[in-house]
Amino acid sequence: MSFEQAKWVWRDGSIIPWQDATTHVSAHALHYGSGVFEGMRCYETLDGPAVFRLDDHLDRLYQSAAVHGMTIPYDRDELTEAICRLIERNGFKSCYVRPLCFYGSSSLGLHPAKCPVEVVILVWPWDAYLGAAGLEEGVRVTVSPWKKFHSDMMPTTAKACGQYINSILAVRDAVSRGFDEALLLDVNGGVAEGSGENLFFVRNGELYTNDERHSILLGITRSAVIQIARDLRCQVNVGPILLDDLLTADEVFFTGTAAEVTPIREVDGAVIGSGGRGPLTERLQNIFFSATAGRDERYRDWLTFVTSETVKLVC
Ligand SMILES: Cc1ncc(COP(=O)(O)O)c(C=O)c1O
Repeated sequence: MSFEQAKWVWRDGSIIPWQDATTHVSAHALHYGSGVFEGMRCYETLDGPAVFRLDDHLDRLYQSAAVHGMTIPYDRDELTEAICRLIERNGFKSCYVRPLCFYGSSSLGLHPAKCPVEVVILVWPWDAYLGAAGLEEGVRVTVSPWKKFHSDMMPTTAKACGQYINSILAVRDAVSRGFDEALLLDVNGGVAEGSGENLFFVRNGELYTNDERHSILLGITRSAVIQIARDLRCQVNVGPILLDDLLTADEVFFTGTAAEVTPIREVDGAVIGSGGRGPLTERLQNIFFSATAGRDERYRDWLTFVTSETVKLVC
């Protein structure tokens, strides 16, 4: 990942040079993680760059803000326009998109009432999160000693900045022990998700995943994969996932905007299925990437195209 090619940032209504997008060290969010954000991907298609499920990501951004009592001072059309214009200004064919709404500087009392809500959008090129080889061959994961927080402690379906300290603890531990990614259990001992990904497994041709009752973020890639699987007439079962389920599964994979559809080939050294990318994972992955590339008519609605014409239209 590199920020070097990103030249422009959108901040509170203006596009400004990357190096000018600075924030004072007294900002509330810097001290307490009081912000909400999204992570989207813009993909290269034959019809120009297109943001995958932009509307769904914006829905989740506003929902995350609402849960935390934050009012975002821009409406959906303004943020859609801002994202499209920023991608165009940076000249990217594909990139990651990160809108962030955070409490700025005014007071460092825990209640942020006096702090202004600041909104920024960053875009930059970001390759496969768990590596290009991971997408094909699968990744090695470990069960984290850190549990995923329960929704009684913090809303798990919101995407708030401070909650990612939980994920950071887990991924740091996993990487320090030589693994690619962590699996977090929920407080009841079931499997929740990866540090930044949802989880699926395959048994006898059926797909299994969990939901918000198991402390996960309800991923937008997760819902895309469920839709694709159902369109293939594959049975999708939603319920608790036990560690045992993974160890005896035919295939296991992660989904996420960053990780896309990444097979898991080992859990704590135990080989899953045939130890590589399983056939259903590969099929779902291929359809997912056709959808993101605009090559599958069934899923064209998932794309917001960022051609100059579209930018003019949304402006
Ligand atoms: C904790 C967590 N779970 C799951 C996901 C996957 O969600 P999505 O597919 O919407 O990116 C993410 C990424 O945003 C995440 O941070």
